[in-house]
Amino acid sequence: MLISTLIAIPWLASVVTAHGYLTIPSSRTRLGFEAGIDTCPECSILEPVTAWPDLEAAPVGRSGPCGYNARVGVDYNQPSTHWGESVVATYTANQVVEVQWCVDHNGDHGGMFTYGICQNQTLVDLFTNPNYLPTNAEKQAAEDCFLQGELKCTDVSGQSCGYNPDCQPGQPCYRNDWFTCNAFNGDSSGGGVRGCQGVDAAPLNSCKTTIAGGYTVTKKIRIPDYNSKHTLLRFRWNSFQTTQVYLHCADIAISGSESGSGSTLTTKSTASAITTTKAQTSTTKPATTANVPCTSATTVPVTFNELATTVYGENIYLVGSTSQLGSWSPSSAIALSANGYTSSNPLWTTTVDLPAGSSFQYKFIRKKSDGSVVWESDPNRSYTVPTGCTELKDSVSGTWR
Ligand SMILES: *[C@@H]1O[C@H](CO)[C@@H](O)[C@H](O)[C@H]1NC(C)=O
Ligand SMILES: *[C@@H]1O[C@H](CO)[C@@H](O)[C@H](O)[C@H]1NC(C)=O
Repeated sequence: MLISTLIAIPWLASVVTAHGYLTIPSSRTRLGFEAGIDTCPECSILEPVTAWPDLEAAPVGRSGPCGYNARVGVDYNQPSTHWGESVVATYTANQVVEVQWCVDHNGDHGGMFTYGICQNQTLVDLFTNPNYLPTNAEKQAAEDCFLQGELKCTDVSGQSCGYNPDCQPGQPCYRNDWFTCNAFNGDSSGGGVRGCQGVDAAPLNSCKTTIAGGYTVTKKIRIPDYNSKHTLLRFRWNSFQTTQVYLHCADIAISGSESGSGSTLTTKSTASAITTTKAQTSTTKPATTANVPCTSATTVPVTFNELATTVYGENIYLVGSTSQLGSWSPSSAIALSANGYTSSNPLWTTTVDLPAGSSFQYKFIRKKSDGSVVWESDPNRSYTVPTGCTELKDSVSGTWR
């Protein structure tokens, strides 16, 4: 019945396979839907584009970072009476918050999604001015800035960040800093584990879509150490099945700092000085930055950067002495991503959540297209994971030897 209706109306043909939208914090699209202006919030689609496997390749065009809904002719990049003129949520710098989007039952295209905050206020101001519609060039500049200000899955320690089963090592989509849906052709008979609806197996109609009912997809992001009275949180979902990208934004404010310090925590020495929850910063004791209690990290996201020039078909892996690092077995090694690889900067990278305080030895290995493995030369590399508060993260960089 639904299908025949859609086929009968040719102008809907490009939007029949819909889809998803940002719900928490309330996106401009959600507000448009609740105001009765947008009759299909999940239908703001950027298409046709190269959505896969290069997640960042597609220019945003008219859709911009906030989305354009062609079905109702609404451009969410410009505030209107019902959205964009005031903030819907106020966060604290460094705070870990839960965000949510809603995927439609008939339009679950699998793939990967990300959130971002652009820290260029001049650029963002163009999108919060009710009297101004940004140009396509400005929309693209903003989207570039949102991609630069990506809120990585791996920024939240303890959150599991996987690789998309539809993406192969070596492809640009092989990255776990974006959030991933399950395999597109995953088993839907087993209670909805396929695609994006499989992410947290939420029940049908746990959120509202207009086509076939929605499933919530909930993740955690870390708000950057940045303050703004009015800025935007951008959501972007790259579809695996279709040549489509979904773009939405929500108007937010970011105040203060949960850390009590002006900078993002990256080193062991400052770790103990950081509080991690609002409750702690508001205790009656004066919050000296020298000795504020914090929640100890059980695991620490550690980013391994390795410069290794490879030929097509070769991939770099991390293998080491602990079971998490494959117990020196190449078949259990952790793949690095070549997403940032260029000929002048042949960067392979991965981020692994490792037990705080643990020590191990490791090496990088090169797997050739014929399956053979080349080990780095001796000695073994060694590393001890730092200990500290939950914000703690670390990175190590090396060059193939
Ligand atoms: C912010 O964006 C504006 C407008 O695109 C640009 O001119 C400016 O250089 C940007 N500022 C920074 C610090 O990147
Ligand atoms: C590196 O570690 C492996 C596995 O424990 C060991 O067999 C090898 O001797 C080590 N290499 C060096 C140079 O210590």
